[in-house]
Amino acid sequence: MRYLIDCLVVRNDELARGQYRLRLHAPEIARAAVPGQFCMIEVAIGLYPFLRRPMCFEQIDGDEVTVLYKVEGVGTRLMSAFTPGQRVNVQGPLGKGFPIDPGFERHILVAGGIGAATFPGLAKALAERCAHPPEVVLAARSKDFLLCEDEFHAMGCDVHLATDDGSAGRKAFAAAALAELAPNAGTRVYACGPMIMMRTVSDVALQAGASCLVSLEAQMACGDGACLSCVVESTVEREGEHMVRVCVDGPVFDTHLIDWEAHNTAYAP
Ligand SMILES: Cc1cc2nc3c(=O)[nH]c(=O)nc-3n(C[C@H](O)[C@H](O)[C@H](O)COP(=O)(O)OP(=O)(O)OC[C@H]3O[C@@H](n4cnc5c(N)ncnc54)[C@H](O)[C@@H]3O)c2cc1C
Ligand code: FES
Repeated sequence: MRYLIDCLVVRNDELARGQYRLRLHAPEIARAAVPGQFCMIEVAIGLYPFLRRPMCFEQIDGDEVTVLYKVEGVGTRLMSAFTPGQRVNVQGPLGKGFPIDPGFERHILVAGGIGAATFPGLAKALAERCAHPPEVVLAARSKDFLLCEDEFHAMGCDVHLATDDGSAGRKAFAAAALAELAPNAGTRVYACGPMIMMRTVSDVALQAGASCLVSLEAQMACGDGACLSCVVESTVEREGEHMVRVCVDGPVFDTHLIDWEAHNTAYAP
């Protein structure tokens, strides 16, 4: 079930420079949403900016949902000015969320920067429904961009930090930090972050024989499968199935389905 409703802004707090947590009172959406799904937020009334901005659910919490976002441009700058008591129009929940499969022995979440935004809800669901809380690799440019460390610790997750500049945790990229955890065939890896990071993380996972799911981003107009602005190339060669829509076929995909070569993610391993 999807909704298009006015939601009350409960809080909108700056957590770190340019990174905010928006809490919305949205009972219908909260009841229907699962981790990994997203919503489209109307950032202004009127014609500019015309398009809603896609944001995944960070936490689904009773009658409320939270969204963790980074100010990138005009839309997210307008979101940062939302104030408690204001109403904003939200479309959701949209897309397919993360499957929860207790059959895997280990679950490892690998987040790059704001990619952490989709994982607290997933960590909670895995902690509740699997034998152990998931392990988490939090990677970012520097310590100021690491998000949700306290939230993951509170859920009992083993958290491994990695920063490009070594200002917190190991001086390493996300894929190297994952490799150190020695995933194997009994492991499911979940990745969200920049495309190049997701590709390198999925390479490490697949080489280890692990399952790997990625949560993709794409420019979106409708969020609902109609406009095709969000298509990405898949590994399926059949006509009509080669391009997949991130909004309705994803945003969560098995990495085997994504044609990483087509997404300009070449790298020197
Ligand atoms: C399914 C989905 C879930 C997302 N969840 C989150 C989230 O939880 N937190 C978060 O901070 N961001 C998330 N994003 C990205 C977020 O939607 C964009 O950062 C936002 O739309 C930018 O809007 P803007 O008006 O501020 O920037 P714009 O002025 O539109 O653009 C500024 C910059 O951001 C880039 N950008 C614009 N739209 C997107 C987009 N959809 N994806 C990636 N880059 C974009 C532009 O290319 C440009 O470089 C998600 C995107 C998708 C598709
Ligand atoms: S955003 Fe319109 S089809 Fe995906």
